[in-house]
Amino acid sequence: MARRGGIVRPTAAALRGAAAALTRGEPVAFPTETVYGLGANALDAAAVARVFALKGRPGDNPLIVHVSDRGMLRRLVRVWPPAARLLADAFWPGPLTLVLPKRRGVPDAVTGGLGTVAVRMPAHPVALALIRQSGIPLAAPSANRSGRPSPTTAAHVAQDFPGLLVLDGGPTEHGLESTVVVLGERPRLLRPGAIPLEALRRLVPSLTAARRPREGEIAESPGMKYRHYAPDRPLWLFRASRLPEMEEAARENPAALVLCPAGAASRFPAARVVPLGRTAEEVGRNLFAALRTRRRGSPLLVLGIPRRGVGRTVMDRLERAATRIV
Ligand code: TXA
Ligand code: MG
Repeated sequence: MARRGGIVRPTAAALRGAAAALTRGEPVAFPTETVYGLGANALDAAAVARVFALKGRPGDNPLIVHVSDRGMLRRLVRVWPPAARLLADAFWPGPLTLVLPKRRGVPDAVTGGLGTVAVRMPAHPVALALIRQSGIPLAAPSANRSGRPSPTTAAHVAQDFPGLLVLDGGPTEHGLESTVVVLGERPRLLRPGAIPLEALRRLVPSLTAARRPREGEIAESPGMKYRHYAPDRPLWLFRASRLPEMEEAARENPAALVLCPAGAASRFPAARVVPLGRTAEEVGRNLFAALRTRRRGSPLLVLGIPRRGVGRTVMDRLERAATRIV
């Protein structure tokens, strides 16, 4: 009998099996260029409900719907404004998510009851093949249990969901989730992501960054109000300018694990350092795997990077993971 779960290579047979599972309303994890997604038929409310239950995700935090071609969008979005076309022409397939008015057929389960739906076309051959093979748009959050770091390898998915069917596409290219933008009268960045704000502003100069909501405020992007990416121990984030304070904290906490850009690694005892990379892109690619590094009880000391380009996204994720910011 064919295997129904576990990590599998994305052969033609495996893709057919995964597509059949999706058609039956079962969840399937798949690689994208950002992070692994936990996919379900976006037009099947019961299948989507399973994904929320599996993740332990709050029902008011809507999902991104993944498409393989623009024709599929017709079943999902009501309007396709010129700015959407401009951005999609430039960045699709790729790590850009557009929030647009939804069609009635999109279940409330997907959108958290909002009148809008988030859509993107991923730039990963396995993701695109799976969507094409099944012929259905896939609602897919990152394939981690709610609150945990997003998975950048199939093994991370299996850590959070043992036995789940995972198509293995190797480590993901960006390691950070897609950039989420809402279009309309005032285009806004709802979540910084793998495409930097600066690149989007070259095409849509009026694009502004949405402020993160305060406690009790209604969030424009519901996902932004939850603590996220949390490792299983305290995480102290030091801003790029606070290297001396971080060195002191490392001396005072000899069991602490240090995560820092490659350039600062020599400041800390080598046995305790996980170097994150030289560029913001490299740091972004390695960040979530590093947050999953196991070392019981000890705090994680993390050195931030400048908030430019993908550095803005890295700092957003770290701030949401941090238990203390210095
Ligand atoms: O790169 C990615 O975007 C990955 C891969 C799998 O595609 N997916 C991902 O999904 O990060 P998730 O569920 O972890 O994050 C979805 C984000 C959340 O911040 C959510 O609040 C926001 O998108 N979102 C979804 N629908 C929305 C809507 N209608 N309005 C505003 N924000 C929305
Ligand atoms: Mg997520």
